[in-house]
Amino acid sequence: METKDLTNIANYDYSGQKVFDKAEDFLPINGTDYVELYVGNAKQAAHYYKTAFGFQELAYAGLETGLKDRSSYVLVQDKIRLVLTTSFDPESEISHHVRRHGDGVKVIALWVDDARSAFEETTKRGAKPYMEPFVTTDEHGEIVRSGIHTYGETVHIFVERKNYKGTFMPGFVEWKTEYHPIPTGLKYIDHMVGNVELGGMNKWAGFYANVMGFANLVTFDDKDISTEYTALMSKVMSNGNGRIKFPINEPAMGKKKSQIEEYIDFYRGPGCQHIAVATDDIVFTISEMRKRGVDFLYVPGSYYDTVRERVGIIEEDLDELKKWGIMVDRDEDGYLLQIFTKPVEDRPTLFFEIIQRKGAKSFGKGNFKALFESIEEEQRKRGTL
Ligand code: FE2
Repeated sequence: METKDLTNIANYDYSGQKVFDKAEDFLPINGTDYVELYVGNAKQAAHYYKTAFGFQELAYAGLETGLKDRSSYVLVQDKIRLVLTTSFDPESEISHHVRRHGDGVKVIALWVDDARSAFEETTKRGAKPYMEPFVTTDEHGEIVRSGIHTYGETVHIFVERKNYKGTFMPGFVEWKTEYHPIPTGLKYIDHMVGNVELGGMNKWAGFYANVMGFANLVTFDDKDISTEYTALMSKVMSNGNGRIKFPINEPAMGKKKSQIEEYIDFYRGPGCQHIAVATDDIVFTISEMRKRGVDFLYVPGSYYDTVRERVGIIEEDLDELKKWGIMVDRDEDGYLLQIFTKPVEDRPTLFFEIIQRKGAKSFGKGNFKALFESIEEEQRKRGTL
């Protein structure tokens, strides 16, 4: 693993272009605005994310609000907004996306102060436009949006909401029902990982560096991330204030099919592999999510035999962590607790990571081997290893 200090400017060649280690500030981003999934049945997906993940209802758009061809449900938990959208038109872009990819992440929306400038700055650096700057208004003010393409059919939408006071955005009404499962303690999006095709990692790391001004925070090669059978390589790209972190994975050669190839086969191309969400109390979060039916990767009991030696003193009760299958890793800044769900749809594609950081700024490298062996066990059951 190679960790870089963001204050050092060094650069290296990538396909004739420069990739900088220091983020540039032409695209200030305040955080993730929302994540939109295109799904086959948004009404039922919304029920799942409320019941199992503890999201709360926020806003709705559909036939009742004047839309003719689709419906969207907006869910919220602390700083996380999840939008679930279904199309009624079999020929629409949304239906095409669902037919090809299954349920998956279409939009990673980024909260900016100036969506026009975000569009201009990124497209002039080579981003493929998805949505020209576009203003929508209602009695609560105005929202400006613009968008660009990223890996696969995934897009970034820049959302400027400084002149808006409403619930979500124009076109949506407040969504209220009598059903309110309690939150599970999910706070914000820590990072979102993209799986790209073999040979695509440098291209997309370069895209985030050159087009969006991100820096390369960490690089993992196949020596860091490999088990007996599979391997992958990853570059973590981060914006200037560190609120947006996008690791980009590509498969590396292993004895058997890697989890990244399995994802790409089933997603039919590059896409978002996992959404990592932060909590302040992972034992509570995981115990709730497990009780509510979320499946997590199995962590062998023997994993906990060496945890004390590996990570030293931690505040949590190790028996409790073992009971819920929560993993621990330490770096120079502190430690972190983490766990992966199994894929949240039938295709082995998108999954979630739950992470609690106690100082650590890294990604759980010490757990990669155990996690990937657990994923391989699932691949073996699916006959895709
Ligand atoms: Fe992760």
